[in-house]
Amino acid sequence: MTIRPIIAPSLLAADFSRLGDEVRAIEQAGADWLHMDVMDGHFVPNISFGLPIVKALRPHTILPMDVHLMIAPVDPFIDAFAEAGADHISIHPESGPHLHRSLQRIRALGKKAGVVLNPATPVEAILWVLDLVDIIMVMTVNPGFGGQAFIDGQLLKVSHLRRAIDASGRDIRLQIDGGVTPVTAPGLLAAGADTLVAGTAVFGAADYGRAIRAIRGTA
Ligand code: DX5
Ligand code: ZN
Repeated sequence: MTIRPIIAPSLLAADFSRLGDEVRAIEQAGADWLHMDVMDGHFVPNISFGLPIVKALRPHTILPMDVHLMIAPVDPFIDAFAEAGADHISIHPESGPHLHRSLQRIRALGKKAGVVLNPATPVEAILWVLDLVDIIMVMTVNPGFGGQAFIDGQLLKVSHLRRAIDASGRDIRLQIDGGVTPVTAPGLLAAGADTLVAGTAVFGAADYGRAIRAIRGTA
């Protein structure tokens, strides 16, 4: 079965001086979701942007806002990101003491809930919360920066997760974040990924539409 992968360009690689234009441009270019990386300089060694940017961009796109929270503690901010306009809220198990409770909160706010696995975080971290998860995201770089080299070893984790999701019978997206390019995408899709985040490979390209199609494999 071939499914059309979801492509989620990461705003982290956009031109921050013209974010509204950039968001409109990727929507026009055929992006499916807008991936937004929120970093606090504490959970990850970088600071990106926060609530005001999510809120400011909300009226500028109809794309689902796929908000990736790299902040700790994450719990005090979940409600605020939902209110700011996030459609999906993805969190790392390491960013709070009670993953199950945090996911329940995201769902209670009417948002899709995601769990993000760092390269060293095992598949087992999500096995007991599958009933509360809409998205599982595998980091194929260490979180914190765009433009890093893809970690090949994570492909095996992707195929393990594909099996776990299929066995669960649940409707869960298997998303990849980090180093996604037209070169790494085919292997990821073959391993069972269905949703690809791409920062540099989209916003670093001259033609966003062509870049998205190249990653999707329809160029
Ligand atoms: C890294 C972020 C990624 C990043 C990906 O912490 O979570 O979403 O923007 O950037 P590329 O696609 O350039 O690896
Ligand atoms: Zn991300």
